Amino acid sequence: MSKTDLMRQIRDEVLNLRESSLYTYRTQNKYFPVIGDGDHDAEIIFIGEAPGKNEAMTGKPFCGASGRILDELLQSINLDRKTVYVTNIVKDRPPENRDPTPQEIELYAPFLDRQIEIIKPKVIATLGRFSMQYIMKRYGLDFELDAISKIHGKEFRTKTDIGEFTVIPLYHPAVAVYNGNTKDELKKDFTTLKKYV
Ligand code: URA
Repeated sequence: MSKTDLMRQIRDEVLNLRESSLYTYRTQNKYFPVIGDGDHDAEIIFIGEAPGKNEAMTGKPFCGASGRILDELLQSINLDRKTVYVTNIVKDRPPENRDPTPQEIELYAPFLDRQIEIIKPKVIATLGRFSMQYIMKRYGLDFELDAISKIHGKEFRTKTDIGEFTVIPLYHPAVAVYNGNTKDELKKDFTTLKKYV
């Protein structure tokens, strides 16, 4: 099966994920699940938390205020967004943009694992603490976990059953919408990504 077919299979499974606490909220609001967007052969995959309203209305990840920051950060290192892959752990919008629950993360994370296996990136860049915690625990880096303020921008190499790659925790772009210092930190951390492309 092609990578596109495997991604479509994930989309179809998420579309029918009735056991999710977010399923009824999605269908009642005529929202879309947000599977991910970009190159299926990308070297870098960016993983956020969960879709916001703009994303749920369009089915595209990071297309609102946080997306504008992400676009600006990508531009700052001359990286075309079409050449990377962007997704989230949780594929449906939580009401009122609340944090995803541990149950929601557990339910949706296997789809993310499959996306990582399909893309086989060189780098996983996590956006925010939820994806940082999930990815570092999932891929053998739990012993390196610390507060995001301590480990953002660091490169963690890991050998896993699906190959070797580097995990780089980054702040969530939403924080940078209102906090110029975080935006500066993010800009600095993005320069680390440059050497992988
Ligand atoms: N915040 C996220 O974590 N993901 C999105 O797709 C948009 C906002």
